[in-house]
Amino acid sequence: MSKVSRRDLLRAGAVLSGGRFLMNSPWANAEVLVRTTGSTAQPGVLPDAPGFDLTPRECHSFDFGWRFMYGHVYDPARDLGYGEGFEGSYAKTGAFEFGQPEYDDSMWRLLNLPHDWAVELPFVDDKTLESHGYKPLGRRYPETSIGWYRRTFYVPEGDAGRRIFVDFDGVFRDAKVFCNGAYIGRQESGYAPLRFDLTDFLNYGGKNTVTVRVDASIGEGWFYEGAGIYRHVWLSKVDELHLGQWETVVRAELKDTGATLSLSAVVENSGRSEEVCHVRWEIYDGTGKKVETAVSPIAKVPKHDMQTFSATARLANPMLWSQEAPNLYYAVTTIESQNQVRDRDKTTFGVRTLSWDVDHGFSLNGKKTVVKGTCNHQDHAGVGSAIPDRLQSFRLEVLKEMGCNAIRTSHNFPAPALVEACDRLGILVLCETRTMSSNREGMMQLEKMIKRYRNSPSVFLWSLGNEEWFMRGAKDNEAWHSSEDEGGRVIRSMQDRVHELDPTRLCTAAVNGYYRTDLADFLDVVGFNYNYQRADAYRNEHPKRLLIGTETGSDTYTRGIYVTDALRNWVSSYDALQPYTSLDQGRVWWRFYARRPWLSGGFMWTGFDYRGEPSPYSWPSTSSQFGVVDTCGFPKDSFFYYKAWWRDEPELHLFPHWNWEGREGEEIRVQVESNLDSVELFLNGRSLGSKKVGPLYPLEWKVRYTPGAIEARGTKAGNVVLSRKRETAGVPAKIDLSADRAEIWADGQDVAVVRIEVADKEGRLMPIADNLIQLKVTGEGVLIGVGNGDPNCHEPDKSDRRSLFNGLAQALVQATGTPGSITIEAGSEGIASVTLTIATRKRGNV
Ligand code: GAL
Repeated sequence: MSKVSRRDLLRAGAVLSGGRFLMNSPWANAEVLVRTTGSTAQPGVLPDAPGFDLTPRECHSFDFGWRFMYGHVYDPARDLGYGEGFEGSYAKTGAFEFGQPEYDDSMWRLLNLPHDWAVELPFVDDKTLESHGYKPLGRRYPETSIGWYRRTFYVPEGDAGRRIFVDFDGVFRDAKVFCNGAYIGRQESGYAPLRFDLTDFLNYGGKNTVTVRVDASIGEGWFYEGAGIYRHVWLSKVDELHLGQWETVVRAELKDTGATLSLSAVVENSGRSEEVCHVRWEIYDGTGKKVETAVSPIAKVPKHDMQTFSATARLANPMLWSQEAPNLYYAVTTIESQNQVRDRDKTTFGVRTLSWDVDHGFSLNGKKTVVKGTCNHQDHAGVGSAIPDRLQSFRLEVLKEMGCNAIRTSHNFPAPALVEACDRLGILVLCETRTMSSNREGMMQLEKMIKRYRNSPSVFLWSLGNEEWFMRGAKDNEAWHSSEDEGGRVIRSMQDRVHELDPTRLCTAAVNGYYRTDLADFLDVVGFNYNYQRADAYRNEHPKRLLIGTETGSDTYTRGIYVTDALRNWVSSYDALQPYTSLDQGRVWWRFYARRPWLSGGFMWTGFDYRGEPSPYSWPSTSSQFGVVDTCGFPKDSFFYYKAWWRDEPELHLFPHWNWEGREGEEIRVQVESNLDSVELFLNGRSLGSKKVGPLYPLEWKVRYTPGAIEARGTKAGNVVLSRKRETAGVPAKIDLSADRAEIWADGQDVAVVRIEVADKEGRLMPIADNLIQLKVTGEGVLIGVGNGDPNCHEPDKSDRRSLFNGLAQALVQATGTPGSITIEAGSEGIASVTLTIATRKRGNV
């Protein structure tokens, strides 16, 4: 990550007088951002990805200028009259009063998407809310579990005769969609995307309204899931003759030095007469240069019907997609009929091979690739599940910095921006569906997932489910028995369908313990959740089965804490150092996996701490402590263990901090995570001896505490190559602000991730500081959330102030749609304020 230079950007400012915060943003009504479909391609750093003109197709961001209001789970009087009377029911098409364009929503809150209302609610000490992060959602909380959204927009008269769709990337949950008072449709899944055809219900040349009732009173998982329209929404306008959604497939097969591209697309004809057309594919490389063209034969598409078109193309010497060089290609697919372009769309793909071997595990492009993975949920400090695209990339960059090369989207259909960021960053994705079922709902979720992501080079394996005990057959543990064959039947139906839609990838499911049942027997790749003690025996019994660690140990530590304190819900950061005591423990699982190539590597539980499922403590803890980084992405010490053993670069990390006032003369455990040959430790310049690094283990010294400096110097081949020092810091005297980037896009969506610390007057960062920081954001930016990674902190995420937790806090600042600059001012009692400036500029290709 490139940082804004502190020296350049820090300058003393006035003490903050008040915060500018949130929602009634100046750009809220903007009808903006025509984008190239198929990719939201937000670069982690400037400049922009190549853009393509997709005319006559239009795809508009529909994220801006929504109105929001709470409804009620059962009382129609507090739910816009929904379910009551003629104008609140389904009696006549088009009669819903709350859905009419004239309906007065001027008192509703104005906001932009993505939006998660759960993160705005206070924490409530109610055991029934524990797994969802103690937010008042559910049937016991009828006033805060229903959300209504309305978005008014203009449709030009000239759009008559086109097909107009509204696409939701994800709504949590049970979305009912209305257009101009008419009910359009419903989807219960909170993770799968939803498309609705508005064509017949629109007022061409006038005002229109889309209304969405979101019911988050019932959850789907056992973790924080948020509430609301928490992903992007798009308005697409296409010809009656158009490309089917996610029906364009580019399959690259490598032969010798070239790749054969099998291209196919489904053309849908929604019109009233038969059409004759062909499909043209233009292939562009990552720089936007056209490298190949292919054209299908001409064919008829009957009215109200569809037709599949295909062609092949050949890429000589393609640039492979790999983890080191994630080269992407783009296919621009065009429907041409009587010399007219009728529709056009873009598909991002990569050229690479995936292979599996029972002895050696997984290989990418023929090169053995050990999966160094993390499982992750989809929430972040400050914003909950409404994660802006840039923050998705930021989170991946944090994990990549550690050497993580794969993520598992536990336990749901991921956001497009996440998978697209993995495509760009060269991170493998184990893409998981939420519902392991062969019922209609389960298959709908699964099919959408496969179709949506089958062109993504990063997706290397599909996951059909996680720990579905009730679907497991009887042989292991009678208590969970449902029926002998049920799990096997469900898995086979799902897996067969995946193979039809995507013959290029294998399937797994995360299995915890019941490996000897029908369910595991039918999987392409058996996913091991925990249970290391059974892996060797399983392998001996099933030498021909492919295996992967779908869920492994947890780094259950509290960032910056070195003494476990059950009264404060804190877990110490030290490695226990005993080999194989508890394999579920952080760091330890890797010692087991690293030595067994047939396991293909694994995904630790988890990369990021997440809201809900608070572990190992419950209230007042509101988030889990399983992550190797906290909910902001600030690394725990074990992060550096993985960094040392997952990356090739020299690594040396020294902990704990050296601020132990009151413990003078007491022994402190000092540990070093390093992959060098040996490390020498110094206290105030005096050597405490050198130790040889044993692979996969930290080094430890017991040091009597004296304030000053503790320093580790690491040696490789006889030379000191790295040193790290922790100094005793004094009273905080200044605030230190830094951002992940100096310049961001002025697109109303891009986000600067601001790190807040305090230092003493000599500039030494204070590792145990808990100062309350007051923020003020002015110029072309808005503060959208704050956090500090403390699993026990009940301060609001939506606020202009935040306490540091063990010396750190984070502010998320979003650009408006106007280029200029953003000024972030931070102050705290007794400390001089500082200002950080971030430039914002217009995207190049929109
Ligand atoms: C696993 C489960 C995860 C999470 C974890 C906590 O069994 O798959 O979702 O709940 O336990 O330890």
